[in-house]
Amino acid sequence: MRHERQIELLDRLVGVDPNLPWTYGPTSMRNPASAYTDPARFAREKQVLFRDRPQLVGLSGECTTPGAYLTANLGGVPIVVVRQTDGSLRAMVNVCRHRGATLLEGRGTGGLRRIVCPYHAWTYNTDGQLVHRPAAAQGFDDVTVNCDLHQRAVAEKHGLIFVHPTSTEPFDVDTLLCGLGDDLADYGLADYVHVETRTNSWKMNWKMVLDTFTEAYHIRFLHKATIAPYFLCDLIFDAFGPHSRTIGLRKSVVEQIKDKPRSEWKLLPYSTTQYFLVPNALLVYQLDHIELWRLTPIDVNTVEVATSIFAPEPPKDAAALNHWTKNLDILLKVTETEDFQQMVRIQKNLESGALPELVYGRIEPALVHLHTAINAAVAESVR
Ligand code: FES
Ligand SMILES: [Fe+2]
Repeated sequence: MRHERQIELLDRLVGVDPNLPWTYGPTSMRNPASAYTDPARFAREKQVLFRDRPQLVGLSGECTTPGAYLTANLGGVPIVVVRQTDGSLRAMVNVCRHRGATLLEGRGTGGLRRIVCPYHAWTYNTDGQLVHRPAAAQGFDDVTVNCDLHQRAVAEKHGLIFVHPTSTEPFDVDTLLCGLGDDLADYGLADYVHVETRTNSWKMNWKMVLDTFTEAYHIRFLHKATIAPYFLCDLIFDAFGPHSRTIGLRKSVVEQIKDKPRSEWKLLPYSTTQYFLVPNALLVYQLDHIELWRLTPIDVNTVEVATSIFAPEPPKDAAALNHWTKNLDILLKVTETEDFQQMVRIQKNLESGALPELVYGRIEPALVHLHTAINAAVAESVR
């Protein structure tokens, strides 16, 4: 993030008490519990948010050399993204055209030359063209339909890879990012190296995961022994279309503002900057690394959460790798044992029918923004 912008954002902290919140949105919001529990509502969200628009699949650093690939489940559609020899990307439906077997699993770091179906060995080029099927001469000689893999629209910019799971219509990443592209471009995300991804499944609605990260109101209470001693109890929040940027700050930032001339203020060394890319991703910029959370909603009360860590350069030795692995351990320990445990219980409480609605306060403006955007997209779809 460029220096002028860091200073502009820090201007909002002038005079704040590190122990009190300072940001209040224009309105509070009530959201029915059914937004988290109703299967019909979930089905609409899946269609509108996860099937009808592009989503973040990953960072360029996960898929750099020819033949590297990433797989994803986007709104239920199995997708594979493969780096081609000319450096471009192809996104395809990750399902064999013969009888529907899954072609590739997980991720590959490069060197894939052919995609071979594990079932009957139909074989495709990395661009999806069918090049071989065993016993084709008599077995399939009367099949005239083209059996190449189905293509999907893919776009890569600022080190981010997006795929539209149900369309081949080209799209523009900056349009999708609604103004966030300018901020994200500064980080040089394309140069970050994927270190590790861990995936877990949680019995909660997918939105619960985002809710966890969207406000700092809970930090003083839920995280009183872990994060609270070091962080301010509020966030700097800005909306970009449906997306948002929230910046969590170390308490030490306030001293700097008091003691240094404005031109020397710095934001990044004191902050954790979170970008919510609706619907499925949360990208977190820390001064020395990137964290990426990817959500795959499975049903109304099950979500798969993949947490990844990216380093500015490849770990040089075991100690460097251990440093990043430990980072991921700590991140997941706090989030899973403190935040997600709480969210799983909230999900159960909502499913009991005991609570008709939730209340998001003016003290939680990013939460209000997120749900306003999601509800608007869903309402639009039923009009
Ligand atoms: S399902 Fe892929 S070759 Fe038969
Ligand atoms: Fe938290």
